[in-house]
Amino acid sequence: MCGIVGYFGPQAPKNILLSGLKKLEYRGYDSAGVAIHNAGEFKVYRAAGKLAELEEKVSKVDFDGRIGIGHTRWATHGLPTERNAHPHKVNGVSLVQNGIIENYAELKKELIANGAQFTSETDTEVVTHLIAQALADSADLMAAIQKVIPKLRGAYAILVVSENEPDTILAFKAGPPLILGQGDGEVFLASDVQAFVEQTNRVVYLDDFEIVKVKGPTFTFYDQFGVEISKPVEVVDISVATSDKKGFKHYMLKEMFEQPRAVANALNPYIDVETKSIDVSRLGLDGAATEIEALKALQGAERIYIVACGTSYYAGLYAKYLIEQLVRIPVDVDVASEFRYRDPVLDKKSFALFISQSGETADTLAALRLAKDNGLTTMSLCNTKRSTIDRESNLHLYMNSGIEVGVASTKAFLSTLAVLNTLSIYLAESRNQINADERAQLVEALLSLPSLMEGVLSYDSFFNQAAETLKNYKGFLYLGRGHNFPIAMEGALKMKELAYLHAEGYPAGEMKHGPLALVDSQMVAVVICPKDKYYDKTISNLEEAKARGGVIFSIGTGQDEELEAMSEHYLSIPESHWMLSGLLSVIPVQLLAYHVADRLGHDVDQPRNLAKSVTVE
Ligand code: G6P
Repeated sequence: MCGIVGYFGPQAPKNILLSGLKKLEYRGYDSAGVAIHNAGEFKVYRAAGKLAELEEKVSKVDFDGRIGIGHTRWATHGLPTERNAHPHKVNGVSLVQNGIIENYAELKKELIANGAQFTSETDTEVVTHLIAQALADSADLMAAIQKVIPKLRGAYAILVVSENEPDTILAFKAGPPLILGQGDGEVFLASDVQAFVEQTNRVVYLDDFEIVKVKGPTFTFYDQFGVEISKPVEVVDISVATSDKKGFKHYMLKEMFEQPRAVANALNPYIDVETKSIDVSRLGLDGAATEIEALKALQGAERIYIVACGTSYYAGLYAKYLIEQLVRIPVDVDVASEFRYRDPVLDKKSFALFISQSGETADTLAALRLAKDNGLTTMSLCNTKRSTIDRESNLHLYMNSGIEVGVASTKAFLSTLAVLNTLSIYLAESRNQINADERAQLVEALLSLPSLMEGVLSYDSFFNQAAETLKNYKGFLYLGRGHNFPIAMEGALKMKELAYLHAEGYPAGEMKHGPLALVDSQMVAVVICPKDKYYDKTISNLEEAKARGGVIFSIGTGQDEELEAMSEHYLSIPESHWMLSGLLSVIPVQLLAYHVADRLGHDVDQPRNLAKSVTVE
């Protein structure tokens, strides 16, 4: 992961780099550093811990140069200490990396054999040494980089500066994103447009193996053979991430409370409120012939693959239940890191959907490329427009949930579920599984979602109080059936991510095949038990847990005296259409994890060891 930034221009590089890194902290926040030109050399400042530590360190330092690079780290090789923080500097060459050099150990061995001395445990320092060594031969940074790139195996985005060429930044990538921003007499480089979108919206997305040379305010692109290429400057319509918590204690809490609006925004582009229909031309199509072909492939698919990671994977699992029930097409759901390596049997008549909030998750991107190489038509469902996964897929859906700052996903997840509902209804109608009246009823139900969600959010204080006792338990078992099983999985993930407590999601019917052995008076069973076709069966599973001393926290529908009587804590979600119960159960499991974590004193927005965008495998 990690976030990298670079700048040349008339503004103070320190301010530009630090404000860019602040926007990139979601990519890693265990240490940070900058190299900024000053008095004839690139001065490196680094600090372990959050960016605030680095800000403090450089707060009184003045730099006379107009150029610099910066980094915020999510440790891959070596502890998150100051000496492992980037930039790494060797003989006047300073470098920042987002990624992993897989063959760093063998390269390091050779370098040490040739006399190189290392000051960190990172793979990044290896690249710095290699470039410094190559520079000793040619004295030209571009030539040195071209010599080094073929030696590197892995996935990386790198910015490098050298004291021999003090007005130049070289940037190259293979895997993680890298974007150039063109200002007036200034140039920005970053892992994400957000780092500089306040300054300019004129951007160029680098492709793998390309190199860009920023020399003063000008820039030139080269292909992997060093041949100059021209790339168009695009004007992007990307809103600036707000750093305002709007009075909430955490971004995550704010984002949970934004969910009704986020879901309405997610549905809006796809649904015609008047006719209660789903507009095909709004499924991310712009009428291009290839996209029309892609849409036909979706409509005619004999099987759908859904591939994603983390919370997005659970959204995919949810979609399996919905699509199979409504559309009657088989759906396979895979974790991207498994899909890409398990040599899946992919039939060209199947269709593949990739879900990714960031649109940059390395495993999901690799899975997308694998599907395309196998001739499948692909669709992405992303929050970040123009992200790599969005750009590389044939059809494009969007979560439209706005910027999500909390590392653990909340509003993007619910928006994803809402869009997946829309897609399922659209497919069901286009494949004649439902008629126009049924479609209108389903759409109407979906449109009622935001106001029902408001009702669930009003129970926030209930979770706040329950958390006071729940924070003391040793673990949590989340149980659900049908499309509430993936919600149980997501609930358990939230508890792990935020509260660092052991939590498992299980299909309620699986309890007796193992997890029941975990149940005692120190274990909380969080049971999602709406009044649906599984109700009686889930109640029996709950009885089994209760008979073994488990503490029951149940989420049921409306007034459910039976469930309430069996539970230490009972939370009612509103009576609703069957399709909505899964979506309405999401908010309770989010609020529960949030309040337990908050009462335990954890950093809810930036949980330890995690990052929001995972660009390494
Ligand atoms: C990380 C984040 C999760 C996210 C997952 C997949 O683990 O912390 O919140 O669900 O990546 O990310 P994506 O951007 O592909 O949805």
